[in-house]
Amino acid sequence: MTHILKTQNFIVVALTFCFLSCKSSVAQTASPSTTSYEQKVDSLMNLMTLQEKVGQTVMYSGSGAVTGPTVNKNFRTYIKDAEVGAMLNVYSAKATRDLQKLAVEETRLGIPLLFGYDVIHGFRTIFPINLGLAASWDLEDIEKGTRIAAEEASAVGIHWTFAPMVDIARDPRWGRISEGAGEDVYLGSKIAKAYVHGFQGDDLSKDNTILACAKHFVGYGAAQAGRDYHTVNMGHDELRNVYLPPFKAAVDAGVETFMTAFNELNGVPATANKFIFRDILRDEWNFKGFVVTDYTAINELIPHGFAKDQKHATKLAIEAGIDQDMMSSANRLHLADLVNEGEVDVALVNDACRRILLTKYKLGLFDDPYKYCNEQREKEVIYKPEFLEAARQSAAMCSVLLKNDEKVLPLDKNQTIALIGPLAKDKENIIGNWAAAGDRRGKAISVHQGIQEYLNDSKIIFSKGCDIEGDDESDFQNAINAAKGADKVVMVMGEDYDMSGEAACRTNIKLPGRQTDLIKAIRKAVPDKKIILVLMNGRPLDLSEEDMLADAILETWFPGTSGGYGVADVLFGKYNPSAKLPVTFPRTLGQVPIYYNMKNTGRPIPANNPKDDYKSNYLDSPNTPLYPFGHGLSYTNFEYSDVTLSANTIGFSDTLSASATITNTGDYDGYEVVQLYVHDKVGSITRPVKELKGFEKIFLKKGESKTVSFDITVEDLKFYNAEMKFDVEPGEFEIAIKGTSDFDFGQTFTLE
Ligand code: NOJ
Repeated sequence: MTHILKTQNFIVVALTFCFLSCKSSVAQTASPSTTSYEQKVDSLMNLMTLQEKVGQTVMYSGSGAVTGPTVNKNFRTYIKDAEVGAMLNVYSAKATRDLQKLAVEETRLGIPLLFGYDVIHGFRTIFPINLGLAASWDLEDIEKGTRIAAEEASAVGIHWTFAPMVDIARDPRWGRISEGAGEDVYLGSKIAKAYVHGFQGDDLSKDNTILACAKHFVGYGAAQAGRDYHTVNMGHDELRNVYLPPFKAAVDAGVETFMTAFNELNGVPATANKFIFRDILRDEWNFKGFVVTDYTAINELIPHGFAKDQKHATKLAIEAGIDQDMMSSANRLHLADLVNEGEVDVALVNDACRRILLTKYKLGLFDDPYKYCNEQREKEVIYKPEFLEAARQSAAMCSVLLKNDEKVLPLDKNQTIALIGPLAKDKENIIGNWAAAGDRRGKAISVHQGIQEYLNDSKIIFSKGCDIEGDDESDFQNAINAAKGADKVVMVMGEDYDMSGEAACRTNIKLPGRQTDLIKAIRKAVPDKKIILVLMNGRPLDLSEEDMLADAILETWFPGTSGGYGVADVLFGKYNPSAKLPVTFPRTLGQVPIYYNMKNTGRPIPANNPKDDYKSNYLDSPNTPLYPFGHGLSYTNFEYSDVTLSANTIGFSDTLSASATITNTGDYDGYEVVQLYVHDKVGSITRPVKELKGFEKIFLKKGESKTVSFDITVEDLKFYNAEMKFDVEPGEFEIAIKGTSDFDFGQTFTLE
């Protein structure tokens, strides 16, 4: 009996593949269009049962990583029963080949699986965390690092990354702020595109490109109180003008997939939200790819209080336009029944299945289901020396020099340093959260190792001083002794890597444990010695005390596998720091949310009297942040001359050219991120006090000047107005070109 069945299966598989591959070989040489793929999908779907179609809408997690609260060990059985279309958390050429074989050789139609994984800031070679990458403001570098991540991931059988996370985030309590590009719409949108291009390349059928996934749609970064998964209530102005644009940018860049958010949005959980998935994503934006839920998000419609049971949740999700169910088992258990009972229109299942199959065709999986599972390529590609070198450069480019009093940095190779702190020799935390298959021990380079490239061991006096967390002060005295014996003190401190990322929110954003106390103890013991604080953390921290204690502060985020080298390159001046904050650092948690592009209010504080009564201020803190968005020092100085405008008044079809001359007046060559800001003074919806509208990273030798020009058209000045139409309004605009968001406008132009 088994034999007969197998023979029958073989015939179907053989027929199917002959049928499919005859078409695909023609299509391949003629660079297949989506239409030809669509025909193939239709032909294949004609052969599929309802249950097999539902199978394509189901995803399970393997055991290569745990990224959610539940596991289901039966996935091999489900695959053999053609009940699974995709897997996550399976990687290595061998492991993916093994499961792919089950799908291809042991199911009736042999439809290949998709393998997805969270390749967030690198796969094996880990780059700085995403918030750090954003600090480079270097789109080319971000795209290059992303390409490397795709090269490595695709070599181990991965077809699809659940990245980029393009959620705007303005609350440092929220642990996932580490995974995005920060607070700004414009910067976030540019970076979204760079990631999509980096992962997907120019041709998805190549074996080194992978699908990107814009996540989490939408509003996830606005969780109340910065608590993960929490409620989001947001008006149309904020939704349309702040939270949606980076997703639209990802669609414009050709992103192939979207992931739902865990949160509810204005009372409707995102995973069942027709307004965002059908009305906006499909109808307005014409998105053609497919939508996957976040991990068990269909089941979570029940505790949300939106679905009465799993079957109801299944119906709500498919009706909202969700194509694939990650880990809920909801589609597998209920979708076919719902169709058979007339509760769900079969067209919805067909649509979902069609989109998923189309994606598999685009990847070339029907031509060769094993093309990504290449053990030879895996050996050759992982940790290539040029990848590690690129990660080193990124680490340097992403490190933000927050403070550098009396030019205490760069360090002098002839001096002795006391190297102190729980992260100085650390290799486990330095690659950060969401570090894919990164090696937390052997491969990562610590700051200590990086410094060893510049200083002999005799010039480095190490003392750990304290742990990241906990109350132990027993090593304080050793650290004080180290500081006493050195010319300068370098303290490497911060958070544990798992204090940010998913489900890693904090109500206190100060340095954890006794770290600040250790800085105080050293400051007291050696009041005249220069202290350089090197930070690793996944969120903006409250650094008010550290800012008073340390002479220099270098924010390195979690800088990645080659992080120690890159950070040392900055400390010793091989790389002159150029990074700028993509997110505001508050003075105190009480100011949160705080971001540069806020609204003015009806009672803004007067510049000359911030304490004025009945104004929008605090009794116990200035309104201003400790370090503003766009801030970041260099070892040299850049002077900006006033903006020159090509006209003071422009019409709706004109282009305004705004330029400024930037001169390197200091002693080092270096890069500067030149930022263009605009303020639309009056709108039918109030506009932010400042909006980033352009930036350019330039290199200037010492003494050199360059003129940087930005072209501005009405497209750049549009916003969603009171009728939720994307439009521009005539009137007066302020404009400035600066190296930070912290400035007062001085020039205007008029649109009429
Ligand atoms: C949950 C996270 O929210 C999401 O970003 C991730 O891609 C999935 N788990 C899969 O690991």
